[in-house]
Amino acid sequence: MTEIEAIRQRHSVRNYKSQRIEEDIVQKIREMSDEINRESGLHLQFIEEAGKTYNKLLNRTSGLDSAPSVIACVGNESIDDLDEKVGYYGEKLVLFAQTLGLNTCWAGIFSRKKIPVEIGPGEKLVISIAIGYGENAGKAHTSKSADQLSESAKDMPDWFTKGVEMAILAPTAMNQQKFVIKLNEDDSVTFIDKGGFFSKVDLGIVKYHFEIGSARHIE
Ligand SMILES: Cc1cc2nc3c(=O)[nH]c(=O)nc-3n(C[C@H](O)[C@H](O)[C@H](O)COP(=O)(O)O)c2cc1C
Repeated sequence: MTEIEAIRQRHSVRNYKSQRIEEDIVQKIREMSDEINRESGLHLQFIEEAGKTYNKLLNRTSGLDSAPSVIACVGNESIDDLDEKVGYYGEKLVLFAQTLGLNTCWAGIFSRKKIPVEIGPGEKLVISIAIGYGENAGKAHTSKSADQLSESAKDMPDWFTKGVEMAILAPTAMNQQKFVIKLNEDDSVTFIDKGGFFSKVDLGIVKYHFEIGSARHIE
């Protein structure tokens, strides 16, 4: 499965089977998170036993029930744009998990006391990602239109349109989609954060999706 296919198939899943993730799949996730951590300087942690990280009471409004495993998104507070980086690299791991047949849900609401995570000196636990085998595959989110989420002073080239198409499918906190992707005269791209709950994490996720769709790396 390509990353584009993974983007199309990924939806937030909030109900999980109790089934554990098989050892060889766990190994693949660990290898990928190690690679991501080396590249990014983050400290993403795949935790096999999520324990009481999620519970119905805490998540009663969103409906996230429980999950057998969790990815804790940790990074040093000295990292520039820590939240955005977590979004960008966390989504890389989310899409990789999708290619392995797993389901996920980014979760800003979880028990920070009960998650069995390692947080080193100077580090911050930014957010969690629930992971496991879903009871279902989730469903496509309602979305703002490409016109609402992008702007350009000139005709949009194909690569830009494809990037926006993938960005629209990105998960954002409470499906807020508070971003605008702007194509500049010199073909550079600016991501505008319109603020909101976890909007910097959202922006990193959106950037990752855009890069996959457009097949360009955006500085
Ligand atoms: C930064 C972030 C935080 C989120 N926090 C939660 C959460 O606490 N609980 C939850 O059930 N879903 C959470 N979500 C999932 C969003 O509600 C979901 O991505 C959005 O509704 C779009 O749906 P989709 O992921 O199926 O495309 C979060 C998503 C992001 C990106």
